Amino acid sequence: MSNMNFQQPDSFEFSPENLELAKKHIAKYPEGKQQSACMPLLDLAQRQYGWLPTIAMDVVADMLGMAPVRVYEVATFYTMFNKEPVGKHHVQVCTNISCWLRGSDDIVTAVQQAAEINTGETSADGLITLWEVECLGACSNAPMMQINDDYFEDLTGEDATRIINDLRSGKEPATGPQNGRTGAAPLGELTSLTGDA
Ligand code: FES
Repeated sequence: MSNMNFQQPDSFEFSPENLELAKKHIAKYPEGKQQSACMPLLDLAQRQYGWLPTIAMDVVADMLGMAPVRVYEVATFYTMFNKEPVGKHHVQVCTNISCWLRGSDDIVTAVQQAAEINTGETSADGLITLWEVECLGACSNAPMMQINDDYFEDLTGEDATRIINDLRSGKEPATGPQNGRTGAAPLGELTSLTGDA
């Protein structure tokens, strides 16, 4: 999954707007507990920069009075923090048990073919990065994938191909279940809780 061909930037600064947001996050916590704002600040930095360079973690450590290594520990524990560059659309296909039983192999293959990449790579146009991840907590809508902040659920290989092709051509595919159901509700008739309590 690791791409070693990238450069760490020499500097990072929060934009004025994000600096204000960062201060608001820090102010939520009592004096002496500012390090509780570590994750929101890392998230802000990642959203601003597109991924999370080491220098941004250092800036966050400095703002919160933490040793840099403590911030690295947080950032490396959570896969939601991208320690290396990702494409404009960060595709994370769940391959954990429910999604695997429901055909996540087909989803991975469809994304690989549509984006012309292997897992862990970014397409030549810089638009699509594919990762395989473990349970994203939408097992009742398996198989599914997350693209940036959105979930695409109840997928077939054809759905995944269409979604990637849409993204590569600048369209905005519909998010959520792709088979017509609402959320995690049954596709047809109710199958439980059908009688009086
Ligand atoms: S196993 Fe894929 S969302 Fe849980």
